[in-house]
Amino acid sequence: MADSARTRRIVWGAPGWYIRTVVEQITIRRPDDWHLHLRDGDAMRAVVGHSARVFGRAMVMPNLVPPVFTAEDAQAYRARIVEAIGPESTFDPKMTLYLAPQTTPDHIDAAMAAGVLAVKLYPAGATTNSDAGVARLDGVYPALERMEAVGMPLLIHGESTDPSVDIFDRERVFVEQTLAPLVERFPALPVVLEHITTSDAVDFVSGARARVAATITAHHLLMNRNAIFEGGIRPHHYCLPVLKRERHREALVRAALSGDPRFFAGTDSAPHGVDRKERACGCAGCYTAFAAIELYAQAFEDAGNLALLEGFASCFGADFYGLARNEGTITLARESWEVPATYPLGDSEVIPLFAGQRLRWRVQP
Ligand code: DOR
Ligand code: ZN
Repeated sequence: MADSARTRRIVWGAPGWYIRTVVEQITIRRPDDWHLHLRDGDAMRAVVGHSARVFGRAMVMPNLVPPVFTAEDAQAYRARIVEAIGPESTFDPKMTLYLAPQTTPDHIDAAMAAGVLAVKLYPAGATTNSDAGVARLDGVYPALERMEAVGMPLLIHGESTDPSVDIFDRERVFVEQTLAPLVERFPALPVVLEHITTSDAVDFVSGARARVAATITAHHLLMNRNAIFEGGIRPHHYCLPVLKRERHREALVRAALSGDPRFFAGTDSAPHGVDRKERACGCAGCYTAFAAIELYAQAFEDAGNLALLEGFASCFGADFYGLARNEGTITLARESWEVPATYPLGDSEVIPLFAGQRLRWRVQP
């Protein structure tokens, strides 16, 4: 159970000055990040420490160029990550396979044997490096059948790729037209709808059969779509699925704080070099790994219950994947600090979410 230290503070509010009890520090079980983009090479070496500092494990996304198609690819990628974090770190990267038209049941068996934890479905064309993904779902039914048989979870980027569907409706349309029939056709397949952004996704997951869950990012809890256009166009607030209107953000906050174990943390931290974000056609992705748990803490505190962070960030995901919860703890303290303007990213730099702004929680060293 989360442990916290409180003090009383005089604060200025609607009735004038009053005394409020404020949480100054909270200790929670070490969290996991169930959806993370680490990239590769120098970029990976530049960012992986941000996640390894705080998280026990992360589900590492396979959308490299070329993607992580096979068990051997996943093992080699994992070895590069482990080398980058060094022998002292206990961070345990969990690997995923990239589902492609050529993925066979044998690929699934080999992945299972190699300790790959899940398979990621990118509808072809839906997002960054998804061109090698799946255009026709029935083409991968044999692989999905094997996954169902062995209990290998399918992680889904849930957006319609029909260009005539409005970008703000793509998640809802995917849920209705693709996800609902899929979940019914493969009744024992563990499914995670990743980085959900709408009340429609919340409702679907809340009412779905067993073994259907969802991850929620910190940035979708903290921002609505106005953030993309605040005083001008804000490329660092552009991600996919794109931020939605306020009522959807509120539904995500309710889901994250519901205590329902179907909803757990996955940051979708997705670093891109500044040159690839600030251009006429910029990439999708928010870089949050530098302060992921601090950002979640801010969202949970804003919603009025910081104590619920632990279940969401440290327990429910591990339970879903049938893994032991992490043993250690981390402590977050109320401490105002300014987000740096940039972080290094190989031969480029990445602009972190909320660069130059102040955050109010900080993980203690
Ligand atoms: O914003 C995003 N960035 N969404 C994704 O689905 C992919 C990710 C990336 O890899 O950059
Ligand atoms: Zn992602």
